[in-house]
Amino acid sequence: MLTCPVCQQSLVLHDRQLRCENNHSFDRAKQGYFNLLLNTAKNSKQPGDNAAMVQARTAFLNAGHYQSISDTINQLAIDHLLHGADTEQHILDLGCGEGYYSERLHQALNDHQISHTFYGLDISKDAAKAACKRSKDMHWLVANANHAPFAEHSMQLITNVFNRIMPKALAKLCAPNGRVLIASAGAFHLQQLKEAIYATPKFVEYDAIGAMADYFEHEQRHVLDFTMSLNPDTTAHLLAMTPHVWRSSPETQQGLLSAPLDLRVQINLDSFKPTLENPPQEDHNTQG
Ligand SMILES: C[S@@+](CC[C@H](N)C(=O)[O-])C[C@H]1O[C@@H](n2cnc3c(N)ncnc32)[C@H](O)[C@@H]1O
Ligand SMILES: [Zn+2]
Repeated sequence: MLTCPVCQQSLVLHDRQLRCENNHSFDRAKQGYFNLLLNTAKNSKQPGDNAAMVQARTAFLNAGHYQSISDTINQLAIDHLLHGADTEQHILDLGCGEGYYSERLHQALNDHQISHTFYGLDISKDAAKAACKRSKDMHWLVANANHAPFAEHSMQLITNVFNRIMPKALAKLCAPNGRVLIASAGAFHLQQLKEAIYATPKFVEYDAIGAMADYFEHEQRHVLDFTMSLNPDTTAHLLAMTPHVWRSSPETQQGLLSAPLDLRVQINLDSFKPTLENPPQEDHNTQG
C-alpha cells in the first residue's frame, strides 16, 4: 500500500522502520509519524503550516464550532463505505493538518464496524506531531500530496478538507469505485471577518466542481450555512490559523477581539467519483 518515495517500490514495516526492497528506509519519529518527504519534494525549508498555526487550529477546532462539518463528512463517508464494509478499506485524509477531522472519521468508522486503514498525510511536520497526539492507532505521514507515497488507485475514500485541490493527484490515488469528499469555503464563509478586514471584501466561491471536472464526476453537494458565536479567545485562534490575519492591521485585529463575535460559516461539501474514461496521464516533459 505505502510506496517508497525514492523508487516507488512497496514499503514494508520492520519494527519501527519502513523499508523497500532497494533498502531505502524511513524511521518512525518518536511521536509516531513517518516522514516520507524527500528534500526534492519540499517547496520550502519548513513546508506547510507552522507550529503556531497548527496550535491555533487545534485550539479552534477543539472548541467544537466545526463539529457539524466533521459530522457531515463522517455521514457521507459511512454512506459510501458501508457498501464495501466486508473488506478492509483504505482511507486517506489529504492535507489532514493536526488531524481533527481524520480522528473523528476514524472513530465514526470504528463505531460502524467499518474495517479500514486510515492514513493522514500532511506536508507539515508540526501538523503530523500534533496529529499523533490525537490518535496512536492511525498512520500519520509527512509527505507532499502531489507525490503521495501510495499505490495507484488504492484509496476507497479520500477527504480533502480546506486544502488546495489537486485533482490529478486525487485521480491517481482514488480507486475506480472510490470517492473523494471535498470541503471548501462558500462565497460567504467568514463574511463578517472579511467585512472587517477588507475595504471591498470579495464574496466569490472557489469552483471545486470545475477544478475536479477533468477527472471526476460530481455526485452531490451539501451546503452548511450557520452562524457561530465566538468568544475573543476563540476568535484569536481563528485569526491565527487563517491567511486573513496577515492582511489585517493590529487595530482591526484588536477591534475583532474586543467583544464576542458572530460569524457566518458557509461550507460546501462535495462528493466526487472518478470518471473512468479519463485516466490521469503522466506529465510529459516537453523540454526533452
Ligand atoms: C488550511 S489547512 C487544513 C488542515 C485540515 N484539513 C483542517 O481542515 O483542519 C491546509 C493544510 O494543508 C497542508 N498542505 C499544504 N500543502 C500541502 C501539500 N503539498 N501536501 C500535503 N499537505 C499540504 C498544510 O500544511 C495544512 O496543514
Ligand atoms: Zn525505495
